[in-house]
Amino acid sequence: MNQTLTPSHLRLGVNIDHVATIRNARGGDRPDPVRAAEIVASVGGDGITAHLREDRRHIRDEDLARIQAATNLPLNLEMAATREMLDIALRHKPHAACIVPEKREERTTEGGLDAAGMHNTLVPICEELRAAGIRVSLFIEADERQLEAALRLGAPVVEFHTGEYAHAFLDGDAERVTRELRRITDMAALAAKNGIEPHAGHGLTFDNVQPIAAIPQIAELNIGHYLIGEAVFVGLENAIRRMRELMDEAR
Ligand code: PXP
Repeated sequence: MNQTLTPSHLRLGVNIDHVATIRNARGGDRPDPVRAAEIVASVGGDGITAHLREDRRHIRDEDLARIQAATNLPLNLEMAATREMLDIALRHKPHAACIVPEKREERTTEGGLDAAGMHNTLVPICEELRAAGIRVSLFIEADERQLEAALRLGAPVVEFHTGEYAHAFLDGDAERVTRELRRITDMAALAAKNGIEPHAGHGLTFDNVQPIAAIPQIAELNIGHYLIGEAVFVGLENAIRRMRELMDEAR
C-alpha cells in the first residue's frame, strides 16, 4: 500500500500564531509561542505551523529559530510568495513551506492562493525552496484549475482551504456544507491520484473537523485559532488531545 497517498495516521499540525498574537497585544515576551510548541510536542502533535506575516502581527522573525531549537517537530512555515519571505525560509530551512496568499488588511488568510494566475511568480520560488530541501506546499481552494497549476509547479503537497466549508458549517447551511465537502473530497482524491499529498486547514473546530478528517487521502490538518481559543478554557494540552481524539475517531 502506498503510505503517502492513503495515510492511516492523519497528522495534526498545530498553528501557534495566536499565542504570539496575545503576546504582542501587550508587548513583552509572554505568552511565549515556544512554550506552546513544547506543549504540542509533549502531547504528540505532529508538527508546528507558523505564519510569518509581512506585518509581523503575530510570529516574528526571531521566533522561528527559537521554535526550531525548542522541539524536533517539523516546522511548516506559512509564507507569502515574496523575495523577503523566500530569503527567510532559505535561512531557516524549515521542514516545509506553505505558500499562502497575503493581503495586509485581511484579518486572516482569506481564500486560497491563485496558483494558476501566479504561475510565473511561483516557479522560481518553488524551485529555490525545493533546491534547499524544503518541502513546498500551496494553500489553494479545492478547485481543479488550482490543482492543475500545483501539478505544473511540481508541488508535492497542496493544502486545501477549508474556510468556505467552515463558514457554511457556522451558518448551519447544510446544502453548502455538503457542496464544500464534496469539492474537497473530490479534489483530495484527484490530488492523490496525481501524486500530490493533500492537506487541509482553516477554520477547523471540534464541531466541524470530523467530515474533513474522514477524507481518506488527506494526510495532514493544520489547525490554529480554535485550538488556541479553547486552550484559554481547557489548556492547550487538553484542546490538542480532544482534537486528536476526534480526528482518530473520524478516520
Ligand atoms: N493553514 C493555513 C495555510 C493557514 O494560513 C491557516 C491560518 O493561518 C491555517 C491552516 C489555520 O487556520 P485556523 O487558524 O483557522 O485554524
